[in-house]
Amino acid sequence: MVSDLSEAQAASELEFLAKALAEANRDYHGADAPVLTDADYDGLKRRNAEIEARFPGLKRADSPSEQVGAPVADGFGKITHDVRMLSLGNAFDEEDVTEFDQRIRKYLGLSDDAPLTYTAEPKIDGLSLSIRYENGVLVHAATRGDGSVGENVTANARTIADIPETLTGAPDVLDVRGEVYMSHADFASLNDRQEQDGRKPFANPRNAAAGSLRQLDSSVTAARPLKFFTYAWGALSSPLAKTQSGAIDRLNSLGFSTNPLTQTCDGPASLLSHYRLIEEQRATLGYDIDGVVYKVDALDLQDRLGFRSTTPRWAIAHKFSAELAWTTLEAIDIQVGRTGALSPVARLKPVTVGGVVVSNATLHNEDYIAGVGGDGAPIREGRDIRVGDWVEVYRAGDVIPKIRDVDLTKRTNAAPYQFPDTCPECGSPAVREDGDAVRRCTGGLICPAQAVERLKHFVGRAAFDIDGLGAKQVEMFFADDTLPVKEPADIFTLARRDAASLTRLENRDGFGKTSVKKLFQAIEDRREIAFNRVLFSLGIRHVGEAAAALIARHYGNWATMEDALTSAHIGEGSAWDDLIGVDGVGAVMATSLINAFQNDAERASIDRLVAELKIEDAAQPDTSDSPVAGKTIVFTGTLEKMTRAEAKARAESLGAKVSGSVSSKTDILVAGPGAGSKATKAADLGVEVIDEDDWLALIGAS
Ligand code: IVH
Repeated sequence: MVSDLSEAQAASELEFLAKALAEANRDYHGADAPVLTDADYDGLKRRNAEIEARFPGLKRADSPSEQVGAPVADGFGKITHDVRMLSLGNAFDEEDVTEFDQRIRKYLGLSDDAPLTYTAEPKIDGLSLSIRYENGVLVHAATRGDGSVGENVTANARTIADIPETLTGAPDVLDVRGEVYMSHADFASLNDRQEQDGRKPFANPRNAAAGSLRQLDSSVTAARPLKFFTYAWGALSSPLAKTQSGAIDRLNSLGFSTNPLTQTCDGPASLLSHYRLIEEQRATLGYDIDGVVYKVDALDLQDRLGFRSTTPRWAIAHKFSAELAWTTLEAIDIQVGRTGALSPVARLKPVTVGGVVVSNATLHNEDYIAGVGGDGAPIREGRDIRVGDWVEVYRAGDVIPKIRDVDLTKRTNAAPYQFPDTCPECGSPAVREDGDAVRRCTGGLICPAQAVERLKHFVGRAAFDIDGLGAKQVEMFFADDTLPVKEPADIFTLARRDAASLTRLENRDGFGKTSVKKLFQAIEDRREIAFNRVLFSLGIRHVGEAAAALIARHYGNWATMEDALTSAHIGEGSAWDDLIGVDGVGAVMATSLINAFQNDAERASIDRLVAELKIEDAAQPDTSDSPVAGKTIVFTGTLEKMTRAEAKARAESLGAKVSGSVSSKTDILVAGPGAGSKATKAADLGVEVIDEDDWLALIGAS
């Protein structure tokens, strides 16, 4: 056996095999009389691959497995299954299960009321393995592969504790089949180790199990705790039992792990009730299952039913819905975002949903937890969500997992969840404004959570986008005593402060001369920056990337905007009118902007930042020969030749400012039919009033 070879024996055998196979190749291709039969040739190749798999370091430069036409593509030998390894047909709902029973009865000529027993057991989400024993000794183990030929993973299978090396009282030939899987706990610690070693974590336990079993170096597999459940068999020299359930019991008594949730059922109704029982236990099993497998219990009936091309007629997999799973809500945490929004996050007992382990889900806001929708109407028929509840989690596409429902029959917690009315990070009152589903911390800049989230936003891609200064570094500097970064301006004083400091950044763990130099240069490179980026980077509520660009274009330069926002009054006056006249700026955004620039602490922080920067003026369209460049235009009434949006866009492209209301700053009012108070006001202020045709003539478009 390969596992018994010493390194020296392996090396000399590999040398022998390289020679023998090279000779066989020459004979085969050169002469008409090959000395080796195909089977012998394959046997030698397999042996070579097995030894290489066990001793990858001994693989020779002239390794036969590297030869052209070699069937061994990836270092594993191939094993042809005596009995094909098949897959299962699927059932997705109750009807499919009843039909499965009906089909079988029809095929066997059984009446509807003739007794027919099935087994029902979890469908383990791992990868299937076939293990061959001869005279009670494990001879080889193979993956399913394409069903006919699998990969030889014998050395790796031997490292799995659930797989016995020898059996007592087994048939002379016994091919045991089942599923290799990894438990949730082992998966979590493996991923911790992966991350510590700077390796990519596995997406789910199945991938981790597959990656671990298909290791060329079996010592790697040995270090990864894999488990094995048996649920089937292939070649047999004598029957195991008369029934599926009897055969499983027999395999269990031979020393294999069989799934404790395996049960016999007397028809579809009982299959479905076992399905529900298994589904309920899914999240607490500690390993992934993705459905329940039903099999005809009597093996003579299984034989009569036989197979379709790739699936047995006597079995079916009743799958759980891929995007849904039930689990326990262990806690509700509150995260504070950059605008102070308190977002509830569900901490879940980990469960795999749609192929990904989910341990967090969003709970949206306090109404959602209470069972109230955005429109005030009940959701989940008004069922609230409490810590400790049994909840249904779903994922659709790549979005953040959500909690869909709650099972009240399993509720033990008598206390509804109390949404906090103070900020968990800074203790300031958290208030909910009328019509807003979100509760917000009123701590503003004194709230560390808001401050750090704002900084993360500030260095984001669409904002300052500073190389080497991402969310992680921002968190580090935020908490740093020597070189703290508490607000955006601090980023631009980092280099100066570091130069003046006794403990230099370059001497710290994780930094060095070069990386510090690079970081400071990257910061320096961003001192000169576009107006719209600066505005967006401030993270003012409602001012997104697009709005920042519109506002920048409207004011042209920072100082003009600053003056306007400093003097503006919310809801009235010319600065206000001018601001909300910008296409895409509404009262809510305008209020938010004005508040940011008129709040003392916030304004001081903005000013400190601006003092460090050179803010570029917003690019203005080339309007050198435009008759309306720099003019402020207001449109009112019905336009007949173009939409209002088109008219605005056109005017702006000619360098005009388009405002929504008439003020003393208005140069021209374009009034269509139905113009009302704006026309009157314009007349009062002595503003020029023209109609649509005049306007088109003025801009040369008529
Ligand atoms: S029986 C002839 N039972 O599901 C069919 N398969 O989708 C033999 N699987 O390839 C398979 N748990 O890898 C059976 N309890 C179970 C199973 C199970 C998981 C896997 C197996 C199979 C696949 C089919």
